[in-house]
Amino acid sequence: MSLDPTILEAFRRLHAQARASDDPEPNAMTVATAGADGRVHARMVLLKTADERGFTFFTRYDSDKGVQLEANPRIALCLLWKRLEPAAQVRIEGRAEKLPAAESDAYFATRERLSQLGAWASLQSRTLPERAALERRVEEFDQRFAGRDVPRPAEWGGYRVVPDLVEFWFAGQHRWNERERWELIDGAWCKRSLYP
Ligand SMILES: Cc1cc2nc3c(=O)[nH]c(=O)nc-3n(C[C@H](O)[C@H](O)[C@H](O)COP(=O)(O)O)c2cc1C
Repeated sequence: MSLDPTILEAFRRLHAQARASDDPEPNAMTVATAGADGRVHARMVLLKTADERGFTFFTRYDSDKGVQLEANPRIALCLLWKRLEPAAQVRIEGRAEKLPAAESDAYFATRERLSQLGAWASLQSRTLPERAALERRVEEFDQRFAGRDVPRPAEWGGYRVVPDLVEFWFAGQHRWNERERWELIDGAWCKRSLYP
């Protein structure tokens, strides 16, 4: 079920305002996942795209978050745009799906070569014995791909978060904040306000 155009429009308007503000990280968002054991984990990633199909970010599929999502695709995102007036938070919940390989290939190709080599070299979330080990791996891959384009590692790619809940929060005076929650219920997006 695709995102209601009203929700997408509201998200895009706020996101555009945040990008036009002096917010140093308007694309940063917290991603929360819980693996098979139910323990909850949160970290930041960068939002890449937002459209009616959902919200995308890129990472390594064999990272801790990737392993957790393999066991349990439920995911929550949280963005904070505190330079907006009023400050806004957007909460998104849903399921994470791997992007089609062609979409991950297309985005990977736009990254600068050193980032591409980093995607090969970084065994994300595994133990790093010493910083030099990462640098050695970057050099190894630099030689391996010398004189040609760096292909996307199979273990690096995007996720699309297909939402079933989107909540907009706006700061109000006296902490009388506003909350507008949209939920996908029986195939229809329903909106209600919540006490702050
Ligand atoms: C502002 C910011 C943006 C980040 N963007 C990404 C990103 O887009 N993809 C990513 O894999 N890690 C990103 N990271 C690093 C993650 O927070 C995290 O350290 C890494 O993905 C490993 O997480 P995991 O071990 O839970 O899988 C970012 C960190 C910060 C502080």
